[in-house]
Amino acid sequence: MTGTTAKIEEREAEPDLLGDSPGMGALRGLIRRVAATDSTVLIQGESGTGKELVARLLHAWSPRAFRPFIAVNCGAIPGELMESELFGHERGAFTGAQAVRKGRFELAGRGTLFLDEIAEMSQSLQVKILRVLQERCFERVGGTDTIQAGARIVAATHRDLDQQIQLGRFREDLYYRLHVVPIQIPPLRERGNDILMLAEHALRRLEASGLGWVRLGEGVPQALLAYAWPGNVRELQNLMERLVIMHAGGTVTVRDLPGKMQAGFPEPMLLPEPADDDDGLHHLMQIIAEPQEPVLPAQGIDLRMYLERIERSLIEQALFATHHVIAHAAAKLGLRRTTLVEKIRKYGLREDAATSDAR
Ligand SMILES: Nc1ncnc2c1ncn2[C@@H]1O[C@H](COP(=O)(O)OP(=O)(O)OP(=O)(O)O)[C@@H](O)[C@H]1O
Ligand SMILES: [Mg+2]
Repeated sequence: MTGTTAKIEEREAEPDLLGDSPGMGALRGLIRRVAATDSTVLIQGESGTGKELVARLLHAWSPRAFRPFIAVNCGAIPGELMESELFGHERGAFTGAQAVRKGRFELAGRGTLFLDEIAEMSQSLQVKILRVLQERCFERVGGTDTIQAGARIVAATHRDLDQQIQLGRFREDLYYRLHVVPIQIPPLRERGNDILMLAEHALRRLEASGLGWVRLGEGVPQALLAYAWPGNVRELQNLMERLVIMHAGGTVTVRDLPGKMQAGFPEPMLLPEPADDDDGLHHLMQIIAEPQEPVLPAQGIDLRMYLERIERSLIEQALFATHHVIAHAAAKLGLRRTTLVEKIRKYGLREDAATSDAR
């Protein structure tokens, strides 16, 4: 079993799309309408806005819900392997192809195939996907039998595809095939009080998972509302997790927030803003020099799990900050590249992380 397959099977049931802002209300309505159809959908939104969540809801709210939902990260697998990943291969199609293997299109059957990070797909594969969208059929690599592609296609990207087309990186004809129903997810900073609702939801989930709880002290909600959230909901979740780890059982104050969130919310103990070139070091120092020690709960803790949570959270943040370039993330963490790759595997972090060096 490949890591990717395992990832699909571990997925939890239908997730909640939280938010009362007008943008979220409209999005929910659009998902309901589009879910009922078989049209190809292109989801666009900044990183961490909930593209995958929306893709899952499009499936969960559709008549295909009892059929498979298969996700493929188009940036995660090297180009030459991607073709067999998507279309499968016949026995002996290439060295190492010892048995027939079904690809993602076939596995999705008449369910939903989610082509995530579609802009990362190689040019040659773009042509092949275009053909499937046009003709609704494909062959396994090395095969001659034509197989029907019955899955509903949902694609997503955080990139501006218009710009990618101008740069010659994305085929315009494929764009039009995918762009049948476009869904644009608003960035978190445009969702007003949803920011606080999502923060509270994240805190409740962290508490339920046994990590502990924190209260958001005076000025913190205002600082969260004023911040631009370039990493959107994912960044918010990561911050809440970090705050719970660092301040379990306590109250978070404005000065406990990352420096970039404190602009406009001055407090006496503000840490200096990082210089451009020492961002990573500053971040590290900020954590190490955390004035508030983590509190040992009366009932005790599982220290190993606790430290693993911290490690995992910092690795995720480093990967996010470096766009998943392992070498850069490793440098940010003061780790050797191989050590970081081991840890990424250990924690089952996004698998594209372990293979995106070449990007
Ligand atoms: N409206 C929402 N309500 C609740 N949870 C949300 C919402 N939007 C996003 N999330 C959560 O935020 C996290 C990031 O969402 P998701 O992975 O769907 O984003 P994405 O746009 O695919 O991100 P990326 O560009 O990094 O791949 C997930 O844990 C998801 O469940
Ligand atoms: Mg995603």
